[in-house]
Amino acid sequence: MSEPLRLGIAGLGTVGVGVVKILQKKANLLATRAGRPVVITAVSARSKNKDRGVDIAGFAWEDNPVKLATRDDVDVFVELMGGADGPAKAATEAAIAAGKDVVTANKAMLAHYGQDLARAAEAANAVIRFEAAVAGGIPVVKALTEGLAGNQVSRVLGVMNGTCNYILTRMQSAGLSYDEVFEEANQLGYLEADPNLDVGGIDAGHKLALLSAIAFGTQVDFDGVALEGIGQVTIEDIKQAAELGFRIKLLGVARMTGRGLEQRMTPCLVPADSPLGQLEGGTNMVVIEGDEVGQIVLRGAGAGEGPTASAVLSDVMDIARGIRVSTFGQPAEGLEKVTPAPVAAAAPYYLRLLLKDKPGALAKLAATLGDCGISIDRMRQRSHGGNDAPVLIVTHKTAAPNLVDALAALPKTDVVIGQPVALRIENL
Ligand code: NAP
Ligand code: HSE
Repeated sequence: MSEPLRLGIAGLGTVGVGVVKILQKKANLLATRAGRPVVITAVSARSKNKDRGVDIAGFAWEDNPVKLATRDDVDVFVELMGGADGPAKAATEAAIAAGKDVVTANKAMLAHYGQDLARAAEAANAVIRFEAAVAGGIPVVKALTEGLAGNQVSRVLGVMNGTCNYILTRMQSAGLSYDEVFEEANQLGYLEADPNLDVGGIDAGHKLALLSAIAFGTQVDFDGVALEGIGQVTIEDIKQAAELGFRIKLLGVARMTGRGLEQRMTPCLVPADSPLGQLEGGTNMVVIEGDEVGQIVLRGAGAGEGPTASAVLSDVMDIARGIRVSTFGQPAEGLEKVTPAPVAAAAPYYLRLLLKDKPGALAKLAATLGDCGISIDRMRQRSHGGNDAPVLIVTHKTAAPNLVDALAALPKTDVVIGQPVALRIENL
């Protein structure tokens, strides 16, 4: 058998411990598959004496991850600490400068510095792999980079944050408010230390930006992702959307348009009977559309010790086998800098609003929408016992600026009460 591949692992939390466990439990299997042993030589974390439930006595300990990353007995630096900046970035840069390959689960670091790190790695003849950074255990980076390399990708979309999907589906199944389910998710330990990373759509936005770069051969542009979290999604909208045959998801969508790269991570309606509509709980799903292959649907655990460590091992095994793929599927020099599309492509919208119950109110509502160039596809007004009337509308395809005009115009009429709710409907 050939020389062992020697790993230095920085970060022994949920993911790091999972990686140690797999390497210890499956040493023979992995060596057989790679044709060489894969061993850990050194590890680093903040606290040396913490009981982590795994035996790390046989590994050298480094307090400083930068030192770990540059050790002579480390071939691959496995970065599992997290954080866009700080020790993760410093140690990754040090590893690359020392000519080491890097495996990381750190979407925040790559979303912000992926282009520079990929360039530096190529200059040093090293690779950076990041399967675990997007959608946990789902091998979506490999699917896009390798499996679909013969395709022109037209759209990548999906649910990439399990916590948000848990909150939205639990609101629906239990009829609970956002605040109630947020607290439940907190008690269950589902939320990141900074919950806004989850519910603000930032974590999922990082993941979408990485997939866009591979899918469209563009520089990673996290700032170009239109972000909106799930904090404003109400149980009322979840119920009404369900009655119309939809589910509300925090949906990431990336597509290349004639006006630039469109990247959105926002609450959207999707058909209830579609694979995305049926996605329950903390699971992730990524849908990829390619010109040759058609539509691919990948579904699986987006987080957790086993699934995320499984993805880290996929990258480690590639390196052990001598498979060396550019970070974003092509040389970093060739990744195009594109401008973000100024507005999202036209789409149907769900509108919910409260209407004064008086003669001509519906006519005025329809006329205001018409004046803004919006055509109604479906409309429903419930029995309301003489009070203000709750109205639901599904529009035909509408240009985003027309919707903005309508949302400004409707509250100024004397028939619409308050601010209407508008959610985009993404067709699949
Ligand atoms: P975690 O449980 O919080 O573990 C972080 C580890 O990094 C801990 O062992 C910590 O040491 C160590 N660490 C932090 N700062 C350090 C420093 N300055 N020097 C040395 N070690 C340091 O995090 P995690 O959930 O395993 O996540 C790790 C990475 O995987 C992150 O980038 C995350 O976004 C990504 N990821 C996680 C999941 C998931 O399901 N958890 C899924 C996909 C991707 P101590 O233990 O001593 O405190
Ligand atoms: N917080 C993320 C999620 C897991 O809920 O999907 C890490 O990517």
